[in-house]
Amino acid sequence: MKVLVVGNGGREHALAWKLLQSGKVQQVTCVPGNGGTALMPHCQNLALNMTDFEGMARFALVNGISLIVVGPEAPLAAGITDYLRQQQLLVFGPTRLGAQIEASKAWAKALMQEAKVPTARSAVFTDAGAAQSYVKAQGAPIVVKADGLAAGKGVTVALTVEEAQGAIAAAFSGEFGEAGKIVVIEEYLTGEEVSVLALTDGITIRPLLPAQDHKRLGEGDTGPNTGGMGAYAPAAIVTPALMERIQTEILQPTIATLKQRQIDYRGVLYAGLMITPAGDPKVIEFNCRFGDPETQAVLPLLETPLETLLLACAKRQLADLPPIAWKSGAAACVVLASGGYPGTYKKGYPITGLDQVDDAIVFHAGTQRQPQAIVTDGGRVLNVTAVGDSIDRAIAQAYTAINALQFEGMYYRRDIGHRARTVEPTSN
Ligand code: AMP
Ligand code: GLY
Repeated sequence: MKVLVVGNGGREHALAWKLLQSGKVQQVTCVPGNGGTALMPHCQNLALNMTDFEGMARFALVNGISLIVVGPEAPLAAGITDYLRQQQLLVFGPTRLGAQIEASKAWAKALMQEAKVPTARSAVFTDAGAAQSYVKAQGAPIVVKADGLAAGKGVTVALTVEEAQGAIAAAFSGEFGEAGKIVVIEEYLTGEEVSVLALTDGITIRPLLPAQDHKRLGEGDTGPNTGGMGAYAPAAIVTPALMERIQTEILQPTIATLKQRQIDYRGVLYAGLMITPAGDPKVIEFNCRFGDPETQAVLPLLETPLETLLLACAKRQLADLPPIAWKSGAAACVVLASGGYPGTYKKGYPITGLDQVDDAIVFHAGTQRQPQAIVTDGGRVLNVTAVGDSIDRAIAQAYTAINALQFEGMYYRRDIGHRARTVEPTSN
Protein backbone atom coordinates (compact mmCIF):
# COMPACT_ATOMS: atom_id res chain seq x y z
CA MET A 1 0.00 0.00 0.00
CA LYS A 2 0.94 3.65 -0.41
CA VAL A 3 0.49 6.14 2.40
CA LEU A 4 0.44 9.92 2.49
CA VAL A 5 1.70 11.59 5.68
CA VAL A 6 0.81 15.24 6.24
CA GLY A 7 3.36 17.31 8.16
CA ASN A 8 7.04 18.24 8.28
CA GLY A 9 8.24 17.56 11.82
CA GLY A 10 10.09 14.84 13.68
CA ARG A 11 6.75 13.23 14.41
CA GLU A 12 6.02 12.83 10.71
CA HIS A 13 9.51 11.47 9.98
CA ALA A 14 8.93 8.89 12.75
CA LEU A 15 5.48 8.00 11.36
CA ALA A 16 6.87 7.55 7.84
CA TRP A 17 9.84 5.51 9.14
CA LYS A 18 7.62 3.22 11.18
CA LEU A 19 5.12 2.75 8.36
CA LEU A 20 7.96 1.71 6.04
CA GLN A 21 9.20 -0.92 8.48
CA SER A 22 6.20 -3.04 7.68
CA GLY A 23 6.55 -5.07 4.52
CA LYS A 24 3.09 -3.94 3.46
CA VAL A 25 3.85 -0.28 2.91
CA GLN A 26 5.75 0.20 -0.34
CA GLN A 27 5.89 3.97 -0.41
CA VAL A 28 5.25 6.98 1.81
CA THR A 29 4.75 10.49 0.48
CA CYS A 30 5.15 13.37 2.94
CA VAL A 31 3.43 16.71 2.45
CA PRO A 32 5.63 18.69 2.63
CA GLY A 33 8.12 16.52 4.62
CA ASN A 34 11.64 17.56 5.62
CA GLY A 35 15.28 16.73 4.89
CA GLY A 36 14.98 13.38 6.65
CA THR A 37 11.92 12.19 4.76
CA ALA A 38 13.57 13.35 1.52
CA LEU A 39 16.56 11.09 2.22
CA MET A 40 14.73 7.99 3.45
CA PRO A 41 14.42 5.11 0.95
CA HIS A 42 10.86 4.53 -0.36
CA CYS A 43 9.86 7.95 0.93
CA GLN A 44 9.38 11.15 -1.04
CA ASN A 45 8.33 14.71 -0.35
CA LEU A 46 5.53 16.48 -2.15
CA ALA A 47 5.86 20.26 -2.11
CA LEU A 48 2.28 21.20 -1.37
CA ASN A 49 1.03 23.54 1.28
CA MET A 50 -0.57 21.72 4.23
CA THR A 51 -3.71 23.78 3.59
CA ASP A 52 -3.95 22.61 -0.03
CA PHE A 53 -6.54 19.89 0.65
CA GLU A 54 -7.58 19.81 -2.98
CA GLY A 55 -4.01 19.25 -4.18
CA MET A 56 -3.56 16.42 -1.69
CA ALA A 57 -6.84 14.79 -2.71
CA ARG A 58 -5.87 14.96 -6.38
CA PHE A 59 -2.46 13.41 -5.69
CA ALA A 60 -3.99 10.68 -3.52
CA LEU A 61 -6.65 9.75 -6.07
CA VAL A 62 -4.26 9.69 -9.04
CA ASN A 63 -1.57 7.73 -7.18
CA GLY A 64 -3.70 5.12 -5.45
CA ILE A 65 -3.01 6.26 -1.88
CA SER A 66 -4.66 3.82 0.56
CA LEU A 67 -4.38 5.90 3.72
CA ILE A 68 -3.73 9.53 4.68
CA VAL A 69 -2.21 10.14 8.11
CA VAL A 70 -2.44 13.71 9.39
CA GLY A 71 0.30 14.80 11.81
CA PRO A 72 -0.32 18.39 13.00
CA GLU A 73 -3.39 19.94 14.61
CA ALA A 74 -3.77 22.94 12.28
CA PRO A 75 -4.97 21.04 9.18
CA LEU A 76 -7.23 18.87 11.36
CA ALA A 77 -8.82 21.94 12.94
CA ALA A 78 -9.20 23.39 9.44
CA GLY A 79 -11.19 20.34 8.28
CA ILE A 80 -8.69 18.34 6.20
CA THR A 81 -10.35 15.06 7.24
CA ASP A 82 -13.86 16.23 6.36
CA TYR A 83 -12.65 17.31 2.92
CA LEU A 84 -10.63 14.19 2.09
CA ARG A 85 -13.38 11.83 3.28
CA GLN A 86 -15.79 13.56 0.94
CA GLN A 87 -13.40 12.52 -1.83
CA GLN A 88 -13.78 8.90 -0.67
CA LEU A 89 -10.26 8.80 0.79
CA LEU A 90 -9.37 6.91 3.98
CA VAL A 91 -8.03 9.28 6.64
CA PHE A 92 -6.43 8.78 10.05
CA GLY A 93 -7.28 11.94 12.01
CA PRO A 94 -10.43 13.46 13.50
CA THR A 95 -12.85 15.73 11.68
CA ARG A 96 -12.93 19.50 12.20
CA LEU A 97 -15.46 19.09 14.99
CA GLY A 98 -13.40 16.40 16.74
CA ALA A 99 -10.28 18.57 16.50
CA GLN A 100 -12.08 21.13 18.68
CA ILE A 101 -10.86 19.02 21.59
CA GLU A 102 -7.50 20.70 21.00
CA ALA A 103 -8.50 23.82 19.06
CA SER A 104 -10.82 25.18 21.77
CA LYS A 105 -9.89 24.75 25.41
CA ALA A 106 -13.36 25.95 26.49
CA TRP A 107 -14.97 23.31 24.25
CA ALA A 108 -12.64 20.63 25.63
CA LYS A 109 -13.43 21.63 29.22
CA ALA A 110 -17.17 21.42 28.58
CA LEU A 111 -16.69 17.97 27.06
CA MET A 112 -14.64 16.85 30.06
CA GLN A 113 -17.38 18.03 32.40
CA GLU A 114 -20.01 16.23 30.40
CA ALA A 115 -17.89 13.05 30.37
CA LYS A 116 -17.12 13.47 34.12
CA VAL A 117 -13.42 13.25 33.39
CA PRO A 118 -11.13 14.39 36.23
CA THR A 119 -9.51 17.73 35.39
CA ALA A 120 -8.58 21.05 36.98
CA ARG A 121 -11.50 23.22 38.16
CA SER A 122 -12.00 26.01 35.66
CA ALA A 123 -14.11 28.92 34.47
CA VAL A 124 -14.50 30.41 30.98
CA PHE A 125 -14.52 34.17 30.32
CA THR A 126 -15.34 36.31 27.31
CA ASP A 127 -14.92 39.52 29.26
CA ALA A 128 -11.57 40.80 30.60
CA GLY A 129 -13.05 42.53 33.66
CA ALA A 130 -14.86 39.42 34.86
CA ALA A 131 -11.71 37.34 34.33
CA GLN A 132 -9.62 39.86 36.33
CA SER A 133 -12.09 39.79 39.24
CA TYR A 134 -12.15 36.00 39.22
CA VAL A 135 -8.36 35.82 39.44
CA LYS A 136 -8.32 38.31 42.33
CA ALA A 137 -10.87 36.22 44.18
CA GLN A 138 -9.08 32.92 43.52
CA GLY A 139 -5.50 34.05 44.18
CA ALA A 140 -2.32 32.51 42.77
CA PRO A 141 -0.84 30.23 41.57
CA ILE A 142 -3.42 29.98 38.82
CA VAL A 143 -3.36 29.07 35.14
CA VAL A 144 -4.59 31.33 32.31
CA LYS A 145 -5.22 29.77 28.89
CA ALA A 146 -6.18 31.44 25.63
CA ASP A 147 -8.95 29.36 24.10
CA GLY A 148 -7.64 28.70 20.60
CA LEU A 149 -4.53 27.26 18.95
CA ALA A 150 -1.60 29.46 19.93
CA ALA A 151 1.40 27.32 18.93
CA GLY A 152 2.11 26.40 22.55
CA LYS A 153 2.21 30.04 23.68
CA GLY A 154 -1.34 30.47 24.94
CA VAL A 155 -0.83 29.05 28.45
CA THR A 156 0.49 31.05 31.41
CA VAL A 157 1.15 29.27 34.67
CA ALA A 158 0.95 32.41 36.83
CA LEU A 159 2.70 32.32 40.18
CA THR A 160 1.27 35.73 41.16
CA VAL A 161 -2.08 37.47 40.65
CA GLU A 162 -0.25 40.25 38.73
CA GLU A 163 1.20 37.73 36.30
CA ALA A 164 -2.26 36.22 35.75
CA GLN A 165 -3.70 39.68 35.15
CA GLY A 166 -0.99 40.40 32.60
CA ALA A 167 -1.83 37.18 30.77
CA ILE A 168 -5.55 38.04 30.74
CA ALA A 169 -4.82 41.52 29.40
CA ALA A 170 -2.57 40.09 26.68
CA ALA A 171 -5.18 37.57 25.56
CA PHE A 172 -8.01 40.10 25.42
CA SER A 173 -5.80 42.60 23.60
CA GLY A 174 -5.68 40.11 20.73
CA GLU A 175 -2.21 38.65 21.20
CA PHE A 176 -3.50 35.21 20.19
CA GLY A 177 -5.99 36.45 17.61
CA GLU A 178 -9.75 36.21 17.90
CA ALA A 179 -9.66 32.80 19.60
CA GLY A 180 -7.63 34.30 22.45
CA LYS A 181 -10.54 36.53 23.37
CA ILE A 182 -12.05 33.58 25.14
CA VAL A 183 -9.99 32.69 28.19
CA VAL A 184 -10.08 29.62 30.39
CA ILE A 185 -8.84 30.13 33.94
CA GLU A 186 -7.87 27.02 35.72
CA GLU A 187 -6.85 25.64 39.07
CA TYR A 188 -3.08 25.08 39.33
CA LEU A 189 -2.30 21.38 39.55
CA THR A 190 0.87 19.88 40.99
CA GLY A 191 2.38 16.48 40.33
CA GLU A 192 4.14 14.75 37.47
CA GLU A 193 3.07 15.18 33.84
CA VAL A 194 2.69 12.26 31.43
CA SER A 195 1.44 11.96 27.88
CA VAL A 196 -0.85 9.11 26.98
CA LEU A 197 -1.40 8.88 23.24
CA ALA A 198 -4.34 6.61 22.48
CA LEU A 199 -5.53 5.26 19.15
CA THR A 200 -9.23 5.30 18.51
CA ASP A 201 -11.75 4.54 15.80
CA GLY A 202 -14.41 6.55 17.62
CA ILE A 203 -15.78 3.49 19.42
CA THR A 204 -12.82 1.54 20.78
CA ILE A 205 -9.80 3.29 22.30
CA ARG A 206 -6.39 1.77 22.98
CA PRO A 207 -3.53 3.58 24.72
CA LEU A 208 0.03 3.43 23.43
CA LEU A 209 2.90 3.20 25.92
CA PRO A 210 2.88 6.21 28.27
CA ALA A 211 5.58 8.78 27.59
CA GLN A 212 7.07 11.78 29.30
CA ASP A 213 7.92 14.96 27.47
CA HIS A 214 10.28 17.73 28.60
CA LYS A 215 8.56 20.97 27.64
CA ARG A 216 10.92 23.49 29.20
CA LEU A 217 14.01 24.72 27.40
CA GLY A 218 16.42 24.41 30.30
CA GLU A 219 17.83 21.61 32.37
CA GLY A 220 15.93 20.74 35.52
CA ASP A 221 12.72 21.73 33.69
CA THR A 222 13.42 25.45 33.86
CA GLY A 223 13.12 28.32 31.39
CA PRO A 224 10.51 28.99 28.70
CA ASN A 225 8.06 26.44 27.35
CA THR A 226 8.93 24.87 24.00
CA GLY A 227 7.28 22.37 21.68
CA GLY A 228 9.22 19.70 23.61
CA MET A 229 12.97 19.20 24.12
CA GLY A 230 12.96 15.44 24.51
CA ALA A 231 10.90 12.48 25.55
CA TYR A 232 11.13 8.95 26.75
CA ALA A 233 8.91 5.91 26.98
CA PRO A 234 7.58 4.03 28.79
CA ALA A 235 6.99 6.41 31.71
CA ALA A 236 7.30 4.18 34.76
CA ILE A 237 5.03 6.41 36.85
CA VAL A 238 2.11 4.96 34.88
CA THR A 239 1.80 1.52 36.44
CA PRO A 240 -0.58 -1.01 34.84
CA ALA A 241 -3.13 -0.18 37.57
CA LEU A 242 -2.88 3.54 36.83
CA MET A 243 -3.19 2.91 33.06
CA GLU A 244 -6.36 0.97 33.80
CA ARG A 245 -7.76 4.00 35.65
CA ILE A 246 -6.72 6.33 32.81
CA GLN A 247 -8.55 4.03 30.42
CA THR A 248 -11.79 3.78 32.43
CA GLU A 249 -11.90 7.27 34.00
CA ILE A 250 -10.56 9.35 31.10
CA LEU A 251 -10.16 7.74 27.67
CA GLN A 252 -13.34 5.65 27.46
CA PRO A 253 -15.74 8.30 28.85
CA THR A 254 -14.25 10.91 26.51
CA ILE A 255 -14.72 8.75 23.42
CA ALA A 256 -18.22 7.75 24.55
CA THR A 257 -19.18 11.41 24.97
CA LEU A 258 -17.74 12.34 21.55
CA LYS A 259 -19.77 9.50 20.07
CA GLN A 260 -22.92 10.67 21.84
CA ARG A 261 -22.37 14.06 20.24
CA GLN A 262 -22.11 12.23 16.90
CA ILE A 263 -18.53 13.31 16.38
CA ASP A 264 -16.67 10.93 14.11
CA TYR A 265 -13.33 10.71 15.93
CA ARG A 266 -10.82 8.40 14.25
CA GLY A 267 -7.23 9.19 15.10
CA VAL A 268 -5.19 9.94 18.19
CA LEU A 269 -6.67 11.18 21.42
CA TYR A 270 -3.66 12.55 23.25
CA ALA A 271 -4.25 13.01 26.97
CA GLY A 272 -1.79 15.35 28.64
CA LEU A 273 -2.14 14.27 32.26
CA MET A 274 -1.02 15.40 35.66
CA ILE A 275 -0.50 12.56 38.11
CA THR A 276 -1.27 14.32 41.38
CA PRO A 277 0.73 13.71 44.57
CA ALA A 278 -2.18 11.48 45.69
CA GLY A 279 -1.63 9.38 42.57
CA ASP A 280 -4.77 10.43 40.70
CA PRO A 281 -4.70 11.17 36.97
CA LYS A 282 -6.18 14.53 35.90
CA VAL A 283 -6.40 15.92 32.38
CA ILE A 284 -4.36 19.07 31.70
CA GLU A 285 -5.26 19.13 28.03
CA PHE A 286 -6.36 16.95 25.16
CA ASN A 287 -4.68 17.04 21.77
CA CYS A 288 -6.19 15.65 18.58
CA ARG A 289 -2.93 14.22 17.16
CA PHE A 290 0.29 12.38 17.95
CA GLY A 291 2.61 14.21 20.36
CA ASP A 292 5.93 15.61 19.19
CA PRO A 293 8.48 14.44 20.43
CA GLU A 294 6.60 11.68 22.33
CA THR A 295 5.87 9.84 19.07
CA GLN A 296 9.59 9.60 18.31
CA ALA A 297 10.10 7.75 21.63
CA VAL A 298 6.97 5.58 21.46
CA LEU A 299 6.95 4.29 17.87
CA PRO A 300 10.41 2.63 17.93
CA LEU A 301 9.04 0.35 20.69
CA LEU A 302 5.94 -0.67 18.74
CA GLU A 303 5.89 -4.27 17.57
CA THR A 304 2.46 -4.35 15.87
CA PRO A 305 2.74 -2.97 12.33
CA LEU A 306 1.73 0.70 12.48
CA GLU A 307 -0.29 0.61 9.27
CA THR A 308 -2.45 -2.21 10.70
CA LEU A 309 -3.36 -0.01 13.65
CA LEU A 310 -3.94 3.20 11.69
CA LEU A 311 -6.00 1.44 9.02
CA ALA A 312 -8.14 -0.25 11.69
CA CYS A 313 -8.85 3.18 13.22
CA ALA A 314 -9.67 4.74 9.86
CA LYS A 315 -11.99 1.82 8.98
CA ARG A 316 -13.62 1.68 12.44
CA GLN A 317 -12.33 -1.85 13.04
CA LEU A 318 -10.05 -1.36 16.01
CA ALA A 319 -12.02 -3.78 18.20
CA ASP A 320 -11.14 -6.62 15.79
CA LEU A 321 -7.39 -6.35 16.42
CA PRO A 322 -5.46 -8.33 19.04
CA PRO A 323 -3.80 -6.27 21.84
CA ILE A 324 -1.06 -3.91 20.67
CA ALA A 325 2.35 -5.63 20.99
CA TRP A 326 5.45 -3.83 22.28
CA LYS A 327 9.16 -4.52 22.30
CA SER A 328 10.75 -4.77 25.73
CA GLY A 329 13.10 -2.02 26.88
CA ALA A 330 12.81 1.73 26.62
CA ALA A 331 13.42 4.58 24.20
CA ALA A 332 14.78 8.08 24.70
CA CYS A 333 14.62 10.99 22.26
CA VAL A 334 16.80 14.09 22.63
CA VAL A 335 15.90 17.17 20.59
CA LEU A 336 18.76 19.15 19.02
CA ALA A 337 17.55 22.72 18.61
CA SER A 338 18.76 25.87 16.88
CA GLY A 339 20.43 28.41 19.18
CA GLY A 340 17.82 30.98 20.14
CA TYR A 341 14.81 28.64 19.98
CA PRO A 342 12.00 29.05 21.12
CA GLY A 343 12.75 32.71 20.35
CA THR A 344 14.33 33.83 17.09
CA TYR A 345 17.05 31.76 15.44
CA LYS A 346 18.86 31.54 12.12
CA LYS A 347 18.34 28.79 9.55
CA GLY A 348 20.44 27.31 6.79
CA TYR A 349 23.41 25.94 8.76
CA PRO A 350 24.87 22.70 7.36
CA ILE A 351 24.53 19.65 9.62
CA THR A 352 27.52 17.31 9.81
CA GLY A 353 27.88 13.76 11.05
CA LEU A 354 24.47 12.41 10.04
CA ASP A 355 26.12 9.38 8.41
CA GLN A 356 28.28 8.70 11.46
CA VAL A 357 25.57 7.96 13.98
CA ASP A 358 25.55 4.43 15.43
CA ASP A 359 22.94 2.75 17.60
CA ALA A 360 20.46 5.57 17.29
CA ILE A 361 17.83 6.79 14.87
CA VAL A 362 17.99 10.42 13.83
CA PHE A 363 14.52 11.72 13.05
CA HIS A 364 14.68 15.05 11.27
CA ALA A 365 12.42 17.94 12.27
CA GLY A 366 13.45 21.38 10.98
CA THR A 367 15.84 20.30 8.23
CA GLN A 368 15.99 20.73 4.49
CA ARG A 369 17.85 18.79 1.83
CA GLN A 370 20.02 20.94 -0.38
CA PRO A 371 22.28 19.72 -3.19
CA GLN A 372 25.44 19.77 -1.05
CA ALA A 373 24.12 19.18 2.44
CA ILE A 374 21.28 18.83 4.88
CA VAL A 375 20.79 22.23 6.48
CA THR A 376 18.88 23.52 9.50
CA ASP A 377 15.43 24.83 8.68
CA GLY A 378 13.58 25.26 11.98
CA GLY A 379 13.74 25.61 15.76
CA ARG A 380 13.74 21.94 16.62
CA VAL A 381 16.19 20.44 14.13
CA LEU A 382 16.91 16.78 14.91
CA ASN A 383 15.48 14.16 17.27
CA VAL A 384 18.15 11.67 18.27
CA THR A 385 16.37 8.53 19.45
CA ALA A 386 17.83 5.37 20.94
CA VAL A 387 16.26 2.13 22.10
CA GLY A 388 17.92 0.19 24.91
CA ASP A 389 17.12 -2.66 27.22
CA SER A 390 16.74 -0.12 30.03
CA ILE A 391 15.95 3.59 30.13
CA ASP A 392 19.51 4.27 31.35
CA ARG A 393 20.94 2.49 28.31
CA ALA A 394 18.60 4.27 25.92
CA ILE A 395 19.52 7.68 27.35
CA ALA A 396 23.27 6.93 27.31
CA GLN A 397 23.08 5.67 23.71
CA ALA A 398 21.20 8.76 22.54
CA TYR A 399 23.77 11.09 24.13
CA THR A 400 26.68 9.11 22.68
CA ALA A 401 25.14 9.38 19.22
CA ILE A 402 24.83 13.15 19.60
CA ASN A 403 28.63 13.38 19.82
CA ALA A 404 28.80 12.71 16.09
CA LEU A 405 26.41 15.52 15.16
CA GLN A 406 27.12 19.20 14.75
CA PHE A 407 25.63 22.40 13.42
CA GLU A 408 26.22 26.01 14.31
CA GLY A 409 24.40 27.04 17.48
CA MET A 410 23.27 23.50 18.28
CA TYR A 411 21.58 23.34 21.70
CA TYR A 412 20.15 20.41 23.63
CA ARG A 413 19.23 19.47 27.15
CA ARG A 414 21.59 17.05 28.85
CA ASP A 415 19.06 15.74 31.32
CA ILE A 416 16.39 14.10 29.17
CA GLY A 417 14.77 11.30 31.16
CA HIS A 418 16.07 12.65 34.47
CA ARG A 419 12.96 11.53 36.33
CA ALA A 420 13.35 7.96 35.12
CA ARG A 421 17.04 7.27 34.98
CA THR A 422 19.01 5.71 37.78
CA VAL A 423 22.51 6.69 36.57
CA GLU A 424 23.97 9.87 35.06
CA PRO A 425 24.06 9.96 31.26
CA THR A 426 27.38 10.15 29.40
CA SER A 427 28.35 13.80 29.55
CA ASN A 428 29.80 15.51 26.53
P1 AMP B 1 -0.77 23.18 27.46
O1 AMP B 1 -0.46 24.13 26.36
O2 AMP B 1 -2.20 23.10 27.85
O3 AMP B 1 -0.07 21.86 27.25
O4 AMP B 1 -0.02 23.75 28.75
C1 AMP B 1 1.36 23.93 28.74
C2 AMP B 1 1.92 23.51 30.05
O5 AMP B 1 1.40 24.34 31.10
C3 AMP B 1 1.56 22.10 30.48
O6 AMP B 1 2.39 21.14 29.92
C4 AMP B 1 1.74 22.19 31.98
O7 AMP B 1 3.09 22.05 32.32
C5 AMP B 1 1.28 23.59 32.28
N1 AMP B 1 -0.12 23.58 32.74
C6 AMP B 1 -1.23 23.67 31.98
N2 AMP B 1 -2.34 23.60 32.74
C7 AMP B 1 -1.92 23.47 34.02
C8 AMP B 1 -2.59 23.36 35.28
N3 AMP B 1 -3.91 23.40 35.37
N4 AMP B 1 -1.82 23.25 36.37
C9 AMP B 1 -0.47 23.25 36.30
N5 AMP B 1 0.21 23.34 35.15
C10 AMP B 1 -0.50 23.46 34.02
N1 GLY C 1 4.97 17.39 23.11
C1 GLY C 1 3.81 18.13 23.33
C2 GLY C 1 2.85 18.12 22.23
O1 GLY C 1 3.00 17.42 21.26
O2 GLY C 1 1.87 18.84 22.33
